[in-house]
Amino acid sequence: MVRVGIVGAGNIGRIHARSYRETPGAELVAVCDLVPEKTAAFARDFGATAYGDLDRMLATERLDILSVTTAGPENGGHHYTPTMAALRTGVHVLCEKPLSNEIARAREMVAFARSRGLYLGVDLNHRFVPIAATARRWIDEGKLGEILFANMALWIRNPNESSPWFHLRALHPHSIDVLRYFVGDIQRVHAFMKKASHRAIWSNCSVNLQFASGAIGHLTGSYDMTTRHPIERCEVAGTKGRFVIENVAEKLTFYPHDSDEQIVIQNTLMSGTLIFETTFRNRIRRFVEQVAARVPPEEIEGSGAEGLAAQEVIEAAIRSWETGTVVDVPAAVTA
Ligand SMILES: NC(=O)c1ccc[n+]([C@@H]2O[C@H](COP(=O)([O-])OP(=O)(O)OC[C@H]3O[C@@H](n4cnc5c(N)ncnc54)[C@H](O)[C@@H]3O)[C@@H](O)[C@H]2O)c1
Repeated sequence: MVRVGIVGAGNIGRIHARSYRETPGAELVAVCDLVPEKTAAFARDFGATAYGDLDRMLATERLDILSVTTAGPENGGHHYTPTMAALRTGVHVLCEKPLSNEIARAREMVAFARSRGLYLGVDLNHRFVPIAATARRWIDEGKLGEILFANMALWIRNPNESSPWFHLRALHPHSIDVLRYFVGDIQRVHAFMKKASHRAIWSNCSVNLQFASGAIGHLTGSYDMTTRHPIERCEVAGTKGRFVIENVAEKLTFYPHDSDEQIVIQNTLMSGTLIFETTFRNRIRRFVEQVAARVPPEEIEGSGAEGLAAQEVIEAAIRSWETGTVVDVPAAVTA
């Protein structure tokens, strides 16, 4: 049985807890938060021991995995300290995205986990759905032919005005990861951004991408839309056919170039909140399985290195907009 702790007893911490509860081979034993009322309610709801101090929790419990579900500036500023504390005590970490809002710290987290031979996973949950696995298999089997281009759109509503780059750093680890999952490393970017007139931050982006394979792509992102309607669309096109994934897990369609017959996989029961919870459950289950099976740390799905690679693309997009130029994504860290 894998012993699990959670630091950060907010909404997302609770989703992690529900996911571990449904994961065979995992036992949630401890929770830590700075707010005593939150840990008390959490401990009561999930039967875990409550802590107000992470170092004490790590010293007391013999944890195998710590889920880091704190938030902080740009939704990642509070991830570094608990992640490094857990890794220092030999505990594997599943960290929420972004690894850190500061790229230097994200690099350090990945390097430190690697130096210790520990697992560092990132909650890149949007790719952990069966239709994404099917689409990925189609690419591997050559069903699309040579990959030519990929188009991604991800948007929700988030009125938070905390930092100019909040929308890019907090939301787009997901969209970039899905693009990388299907088409591989991204080498060059060129970004444009737009503030809605009522906003202080760059709440919309349009980013051109060039992949290492030579394929080209595009990302449209926004924090000014709504979650009432579908929030994500991913299209990948090749010389033999094209697929479209609608709303993360709802529908996958394949359009072959040489036939009128489409393949449609539709999850009629999947929408909104259910999709959201399911992606977490799938992702967490996979992390537990891969840790328990002792898969080589660099080979786990949704690894720290992959989370970092997505963040490098985001930082390059920010530099592109600031300088008005095409920017190379640092090659040394593309993974
Ligand atoms: N993967 C996804 O689809 C997805 C979706 C939404 C949010 N998120 C991520 O989930 C994370 C958490 O989001 P949230 O909305 O639950 O945040 P939140 O602010 O509601 O909860 C974070 C909790 O962490 C606690 N905390 C902060 N520092 C701490 C410390 N040092 N020790 C103990 N507790 C500490 C806070 O008291 C708070 O209760 C964010 O990183 C966000 O980016 C992921």
